[in-house]
Amino acid sequence: MIKFENEHTVRKFMISKRGEEFHNRYSEAVIDIKSQFGKKYTMIIDGEDVKSAKTFVHISPIDTRIILGYFPNGNTGHAGAAIKAAKRSFIEEWKKTDYKYRIQICKAAADIIANRKFELAAWISYENGKNRYEAIADVDEAIDFIRYYSEEIQRSNGFTVETNKAESNEESKSVMKPYGVWGVITPFNFPAAILIGMSIGALITGNTVVLKPASDTPIIGYLFAKIMKEAGLPAGALNLITGSGDIIGKAIVESKDVAGIVFTGSKEVGYKMIKQYNNKANPRPIIAEMGGKNPVIVTENADIDKAVEGVLKAAFGYSGQKCSACSRLYIHRDIKRVFMERLVHRTKNLPVGNPLEPNVFMGPLINSKAYNKYQKFSKIAFRDGTVLVGGTVKDNGDFKYGYYIEPTIVDGLPKNHRLFKEELFVPILCVAEYDEYKDVLDLCNDSEYGLTAGIYSNKKEEVESFLDNVEAGVTYVNRSTSATTGAMVGCQSFGGWKASGTTGKGTGGPYYLMQFLREQSQTIAE
Ligand code: UN1
Repeated sequence: MIKFENEHTVRKFMISKRGEEFHNRYSEAVIDIKSQFGKKYTMIIDGEDVKSAKTFVHISPIDTRIILGYFPNGNTGHAGAAIKAAKRSFIEEWKKTDYKYRIQICKAAADIIANRKFELAAWISYENGKNRYEAIADVDEAIDFIRYYSEEIQRSNGFTVETNKAESNEESKSVMKPYGVWGVITPFNFPAAILIGMSIGALITGNTVVLKPASDTPIIGYLFAKIMKEAGLPAGALNLITGSGDIIGKAIVESKDVAGIVFTGSKEVGYKMIKQYNNKANPRPIIAEMGGKNPVIVTENADIDKAVEGVLKAAFGYSGQKCSACSRLYIHRDIKRVFMERLVHRTKNLPVGNPLEPNVFMGPLINSKAYNKYQKFSKIAFRDGTVLVGGTVKDNGDFKYGYYIEPTIVDGLPKNHRLFKEELFVPILCVAEYDEYKDVLDLCNDSEYGLTAGIYSNKKEEVESFLDNVEAGVTYVNRSTSATTGAMVGCQSFGGWKASGTTGKGTGGPYYLMQFLREQSQTIAE
């Protein structure tokens, strides 16, 4: 049996007192990748590098003067060719492979990624503005997904189970088989972890893939496709197409040759996709992860320091651009003043700036759309509530070339205000107080979403009642590392309830891979 262990790069460097080496290696990688800025990338279809007549420019949110590369603007013809290649590869080759062979290839890819983790982390920082710790954690999580899924499929013997005999002359078993071609449509916020986790989910179970990375972060997708080739994945099993979601995303979703879709992104795009998808062919699986409006409760029985720490990281880590981010905070009236003083103080002192700098906690937002959204919702916060900290953009000096903003906390909004309802994906935290514990869970659950949720309380009954009643797929109690974010592969399965997800089974958990497989019962009579 394979022993799975989380990669935990930062922790390992720090424990072994090699912090300086960690920083040096990241800084060297940042310098190294600069020589590749401005490169013209291709799509990868059936193992071939494919260009397109039109390209789009890929800029960095850190400084929009930096051109990271040019990517093909794929069209429906490219989507069709990618789907055809994936279908051919599935039928002729990949579905016939033994799961042990697939594990071998996936594990080889994990090793390559682990060897190149600083380079990939540097690309992530440039592509989506993550600081070095979050960027390396993103790569770690990708490695973890590959190794964890390898262990899962191995442990389960490829998901083949001997079943009972219906008649004495019969032998029966249950065999799990891949569906075929999967469309993998990925978000900008975890360009390694989510993109690689979802792609490997499909591939390791014997499916083939048409991958469309987010247009804000295509480089990691491209590098991953090349790494899979180097690891031994046959041509056509993983095809990469880049360009507009409205054109190629739609073409993938509408193709009858696509047997499954795995998607992480906004509810808006997810819902649209589900409708398009189910109109076009027989019912087919769609594994969609679609955001959150994640609540945290701090009761009068909480350890306040722990709670401040956890909420700060959950609300403002990666500038609130995680679907696991905390955006609603419910605090007991008796401790609200003390708690908010500390939280506001800590928030004011959070270093915002260029994420390549070692001490920066919060980098820029991903693009102008998010930047405008932040300004629009900050305005609403000022109008309808009391902004305790933040609410403005940072555009002095070189900051004006990126999408820098302040972490923001707003109090005094009505509890059913739209800022308490809509997923904003920017660092705006809404706060409300409550009197009676019995009411606060209703407040938490009064959301169309149900992804993550946290509580700080040292009272057993409160914790039990939270765990019994909260409508969320990922829950945390008294966690100082983060109130709602930072699920670790193999420890905390990550998936949402209600509008947050379609299947109720989490990534990095024991039921994830099953979703890429369909059962066949096989009976042979003598
Ligand atoms: C997401 O933002 O889409 O628990 C996923 C976390 C990460 C996953 C976030 N492991 O915060």
